[in-house]
Amino acid sequence: MSAEQSKRTYLISGASRGIGRSISERLLAEGCRVIGLARRFDSLFTAHPHFEPVAIDLSQLDALPQRLSALSRQLTALDGVICSAGYGRFGSLEQFSAMQIRALVDLNLTSQILLSREFLPHLKRQKQGDLIFIGSEAALSGGRNGAAYCASKFGLRGFAQSLREECAASGVRVGIINPGMVATEFFDDLDFRPGKSPDQHLTPGDVADAVSLMLNTRQGTVIDEINLSPQKRVIEFGKPNIGPRTEG
Ligand SMILES: NC(=O)c1ccc[n+]([C@@H]2O[C@H](COP(=O)([O-])OP(=O)(O)OC[C@H]3O[C@@H](n4cnc5c(N)ncnc54)[C@H](OP(=O)(O)O)[C@@H]3O)[C@@H](O)[C@H]2O)c1
Repeated sequence: MSAEQSKRTYLISGASRGIGRSISERLLAEGCRVIGLARRFDSLFTAHPHFEPVAIDLSQLDALPQRLSALSRQLTALDGVICSAGYGRFGSLEQFSAMQIRALVDLNLTSQILLSREFLPHLKRQKQGDLIFIGSEAALSGGRNGAAYCASKFGLRGFAQSLREECAASGVRVGIINPGMVATEFFDDLDFRPGKSPDQHLTPGDVADAVSLMLNTRQGTVIDEINLSPQKRVIEFGKPNIGPRTEG
């Protein structure tokens, strides 16, 4: 840990579980302060002295700008925002209700745009900072039963690419990480999941490694995109008996 890194403050969405939690734990271990966003947190995690949990439902878009603005006014320092909150719903398009399509896009795309809009001025003011999105392999190519999810993730990747151009002159770095299947609770309500062998799924820690690499790369350089996937692509179908819970 560098002395510079030890003073940094990061805002992380989806910090209660899975990838966002692993990123939070990694940055806390690196000596950073973390402000975590999610609807619910367990007390074991929130006991960390440098972790500040903020209970917020990012899918409530009507109330979100006001909630984020109130949070933003309380911040004295911010070095980066990492957007990990999101969920998956899969099936043929006509199986989705209009509400379900809207809910998916609201959380996976629109809430990330609103988060960026609110906190970008903090980063621009200090002329450096990082904005990192957790995209997906579904942001890179479409697939059967993934139309709505892929649309939200393709949209997020386009947003990240545009914002990167827009922010380059300000010193703010924008990046996106596109993981393949990661063993998390993401799959709990789905009828498929990655294989159990270590070479058949990513761990949340693998994604946290990629975030740490992006954040710690020399100022003046930017890693704009990282695509990572398990060495073997194995998908198990059916409802889980024992959900994959491998932590990195
Ligand atoms: N797992 C994978 O295979 C995989 C692969 C590629 C990309 N991704 C992406 O990675 C991101 C994280 O996924 P994960 O695997 O870590 O899933 P996860 O274990 O289910 O965690 C999802 C996180 O998002 C938060 N969240 C969900 N709905 C929310 C809401 N309405 N408001 C605020 N927070 C909310 C959850 O907290 P609460 O429930 O407490 O609110 C939780 O912290 C997602 O964007 C997902 O699309 C996942």
